[in-house]
Amino acid sequence: MKALTWHGRRSVKVEDVPDPVLQEPTDAIVRITSSAICGSDLHLYEVLSPYMNKHDVLGHEPMGIVEEVGSGVTNLKKGDRVVIPFNISCGHCYMCRQGLQSQCETTQIREKGTGAALFGFSELYGSVPGGQAQYLRVPHADYGPIKVGSELPDDRYLFLSDILPTAWQGVQYANVPDGGTLAVFGLGPVGQFASRIGKHLGYRVIGVDPVPERRAMAERHGVETLDYSKGITGELQERTEGRGPDSIVDAVGMEAHGAPLGAFAQNAVGLLPDKLAQKAIETAGVDRLVVVHGAVEAVRRGGTISLSGVYGGTASPMPLMKMFDKQIQLRMGQCNVKRWIDDLLPLVEDESDPLGVMDLVTHRVGLDEAPAMYEKFQKKEDGCIKVVLQP
Ligand SMILES: NC(=O)c1ccc[n+]([C@@H]2O[C@H](COP(=O)([O-])OP(=O)(O)OC[C@H]3O[C@@H](n4cnc5c(N)ncnc54)[C@H](O)[C@@H]3O)[C@@H](O)[C@H]2O)c1
Ligand SMILES: [Zn+2]
Ligand SMILES: [Zn+2]
Repeated sequence: MKALTWHGRRSVKVEDVPDPVLQEPTDAIVRITSSAICGSDLHLYEVLSPYMNKHDVLGHEPMGIVEEVGSGVTNLKKGDRVVIPFNISCGHCYMCRQGLQSQCETTQIREKGTGAALFGFSELYGSVPGGQAQYLRVPHADYGPIKVGSELPDDRYLFLSDILPTAWQGVQYANVPDGGTLAVFGLGPVGQFASRIGKHLGYRVIGVDPVPERRAMAERHGVETLDYSKGITGELQERTEGRGPDSIVDAVGMEAHGAPLGAFAQNAVGLLPDKLAQKAIETAGVDRLVVVHGAVEAVRRGGTISLSGVYGGTASPMPLMKMFDKQIQLRMGQCNVKRWIDDLLPLVEDESDPLGVMDLVTHRVGLDEAPAMYEKFQKKEDGCIKVVLQP
């Protein structure tokens, strides 16, 4: 089959790889009909390269049609239409039972000290082949896949694999008071959905991003916006009676613009051989923390910051004195996809499309064009906001 594989820093290719086969009784094989590119793929494309290996298959936002199931999979059959959550989780361990599927104790990558295995997400999360491919082997298919109807187009359901529940969790963790103000930093796909979810739940939402077409998309959905380049703390406070927003979702992560020191560290690490680079990431501050620091400055005293954006360094300095003094609550983590599906499924199937899932994708291409699309998405060229591959 054809798959999009990683070859080096900022280098991905489409190549022929062996078709996946059932390995465990709880596996399924899914033929992929749509597979999105995520902001997290951009971290693997560049900063987290030291944890990638040549020919790793990328992709963790897929959906498709079940081709084959193992003997232990009784909830699915050939021909079912399914969305595949990016977490690989068992559904019955202590963590899964608490709705913490991203920490699943059955699939945790213990040798790396990380949480649940993830599709297409580097050595850190188990080097499991991903879904930007014609076929995908789905472990723990007796629990993970979300069965969906056959009437509506893929775009209605596809984002249940990752960014929609990620945005939902980000807003839940932001703990916005009734009628309060939520600021969303970053209006990429995650930030778009976090802002729209905030509106849907009745909050005032202010979205911040340096890219004009991303702000314009958010404005179409009733979100107030702010250009990142314009001293945002003062402006946010001015718009909120001098206090700052009650809650902030960081939907940017470790590659934020406007952070020269972090950019320097990320480039320096990029020049080291993999083993040394891994050591550097694990012992040094390679994150560009400008958004986290900005959120600590801007949030109102006693407010909550919720990090959806992914961070990777271990020794990144945090302004603890200010965080303590301002009594800030901080929550974060990979999304627990399955936990939020019952909340989200009715919304994506609602005819009025309350979260605007049909207004996100800007580019839709075959797998062959995926390498060009990684570049476009990373450089934010050609109005690129969300890419869907149709293998
Ligand atoms: N927690 C999870 O489970 C989870 C799931 C999916 C994605 N993510 C993470 O969420 C983040 C966003 O993903 P995405 O798909 O929306 O990607 P993206 O890269 O398209 O979005 C990032 C956005 O942040 C904006 N930005 C950059 N610097 C900024 C700054 N200083 N201030 C304000 N905005 C700034 C960019 O213009 C862009 O619009 C990534 O870190 C990704 O890894 C986390
Ligand atoms: Zn993702
Ligand atoms: Zn589990």
